[in-house]
Amino acid sequence: MTDKTIADLIEDRFGLPTEDGRGMPAEGEISALLTHRSHRRFKPDAVPDEVLRIALAGAFSAPAKSDLQQGTVIIVKDPAVRAKIDAMVGSQDWIPNAPAFLVFCGDNHRMRLIAEARGTPYPNGHLDSFLNCAGDAAIVLATFVRAAEAMGLGCCPVSVIRDKIEEVSDLLQLPDHVFPFAGMGVGYPSTAGHISLRLPPALNVHTDRYNDENVIKEIDAYDRRRDARHATPPEKQRMTKEFGVAEFYGWSEDKARQYATPQRKQLAAFLKSKGFGLD
Ligand SMILES: Cc1cc2nc3c(=O)[nH]c(=O)nc-3n(C[C@H](O)[C@H](O)[C@H](O)COP(=O)(O)O)c2cc1C
Repeated sequence: MTDKTIADLIEDRFGLPTEDGRGMPAEGEISALLTHRSHRRFKPDAVPDEVLRIALAGAFSAPAKSDLQQGTVIIVKDPAVRAKIDAMVGSQDWIPNAPAFLVFCGDNHRMRLIAEARGTPYPNGHLDSFLNCAGDAAIVLATFVRAAEAMGLGCCPVSVIRDKIEEVSDLLQLPDHVFPFAGMGVGYPSTAGHISLRLPPALNVHTDRYNDENVIKEIDAYDRRRDARHATPPEKQRMTKEFGVAEFYGWSEDKARQYATPQRKQLAAFLKSKGFGLD
């Protein structure tokens, strides 16, 4: 039993006052969603295969575009393969310590095999196919996070594997029409972690029409709220050589700097090499 209410959890998540859910105890699925946090520090305990299989069963219970079910997960168990992936994502030092590692893929390969087996044409190898696969992979990934947390696990997705998308794809022997969407470190958390403040609903929930009138003003206020809870120390600022050390370094400064240099420009060429049409 807890004295907290859903309203308290929403306030924790957004750093803004609300009366929504003031009469609702902080429990159940909505409470679990509101208290989500990624985990990058784990106890050394292995994740039992059965627990992983249950979490995956939960993940694959998610909805899928047209029931096509175009998500696939590779459980990386072979220590040699794992070591190669760990080395590829060297910038993320926590990954080798994650007891389990999965790779979530978008998978149009099965549809191609089905068309071949049924003797039907497949005139849909264009951008929508890719988008459907990416959507399914993302939904399976997000649902896995929920299922894993419900089983007492903690996890953190790893899109950094896409920096080495060709190498990861070769290593996992992904066939044509399959691509790695993100990895996932999984284990029993060794720390409580923390709630990461989200952008306010004023920015990401609109009624009847898109409204970007107050974006920068709202983001400035969000930056301040987030900094008050979790300031970025000067040594953690990005690209100080190019942009200097900012006196106030909020979320938006961090994201602007993160995307001030080109990233993963090899993606389209990789997808084309795997048979995806991007037209
Ligand atoms: C598709 C996807 C890819 C991600 N890739 C990484 C990653 O490569 N490294 C990392 O440390 N966190 C990664 N994350 C975790 C996010 O940084 C994290 O979800 C975000 O900071 C919000 O924090 P929270 O999950 O604790 O609320 C990823 C999350 C998603 C959904």
